[in-house]
Amino acid sequence: MSTKKLIHQKINQIPKVELHSHLEGTIQPSLVRQIAKRNSVKLSDSLFTPQGDYAWDSFVTFLQAYDEASSCLMYSKDYRDITYDYLKSCALEGTIYAETFISPDHAAEMSMSYEDVLSGCAQGIDDAERDFGIVGRIIVTCVRHLGPQQAVRIAQQMINEPHSCVVGFGMGGDESKYVLSDFTPAFQIAIDAGYPCTVHAGEVCGPESVWDAINHLPMISRIGHGVRCVEDDELINTLVSRNISLEICPGSNLALSLYPDWKSHPLKQILEAGINVSINSDDPPFFNTSVGQEYHNGSEHFNLDIEQLLNISRMAMESSFAGSKTKARLIKQINQWSIT
Ligand code: ADE
Ligand code: ZN
Repeated sequence: MSTKKLIHQKINQIPKVELHSHLEGTIQPSLVRQIAKRNSVKLSDSLFTPQGDYAWDSFVTFLQAYDEASSCLMYSKDYRDITYDYLKSCALEGTIYAETFISPDHAAEMSMSYEDVLSGCAQGIDDAERDFGIVGRIIVTCVRHLGPQQAVRIAQQMINEPHSCVVGFGMGGDESKYVLSDFTPAFQIAIDAGYPCTVHAGEVCGPESVWDAINHLPMISRIGHGVRCVEDDELINTLVSRNISLEICPGSNLALSLYPDWKSHPLKQILEAGINVSINSDDPPFFNTSVGQEYHNGSEHFNLDIEQLLNISRMAMESSFAGSKTKARLIKQINQWSIT
């Protein structure tokens, strides 16, 4: 077998960890069509390209397509099915642990209760662990462009109705809307109740957005994306000294044209600076990627070897929001994986 093929095979086998995906953004177009059909939801023709992929051409139209795809979700079983399908696809690529964001705002728009969403997700997590051994966990997220009051409601709901599979709180959405200090009260509710937090920053906006997260959400453990920290040396040093991890999604960054090509992407620079990172899919079918694909991208486009990729899994598991026993068990599994 050629060396290239051997490396490819080895990468497939690396135990992988995903910390940044949006559950509503993981639904394959075929599953969206299937769920929409059984729920009698009419999707607009413009949601898909003639080839059957999601159609979007900018960050804003991506968020709109994502919202429309989520509009087919009406019942607990829908959440069970999308959670199971996502975790199954991760497990088949060697993923041992995945945290995924859910947005109760999307469900509320379809008149679904938080309890129904969570029980569906939990069933999908249990079924996937039983069938494939993968451990799945949920991060409840608010949506930035829906505003700070809504964010407080989501955080409050999360702590009022605790669930064993919910391990953290976060925020996605349009980074150009509002300022992060508007969201301090929502994050404070989560932190006071013991939930670790992550926030999207430094994706669409520059390093000042990551500084805002550090200064106005001082309790933040991880940043979603954060890649634009490389534009500011002091920021890099602060991320290292505070041990704030970056959930990096290279394929998403390229698909959304944050960077024109692979060689402009700063993953290597971030790793060399000593920042703790994970590599993630974000919204797999929208960006034509997966967590497994991102490990392959790490090898192909950033020249990372197996040891470096394995170390990314280790860093990711260390900064995961998993309970201490699960974390220790899965770190051990990563450490015991044989490179040879
Ligand atoms: N919601 C889903 N994907 C997102 C992304 N990449 N950035 C911000 N919000 C999102
Ligand atoms: Zn994201």
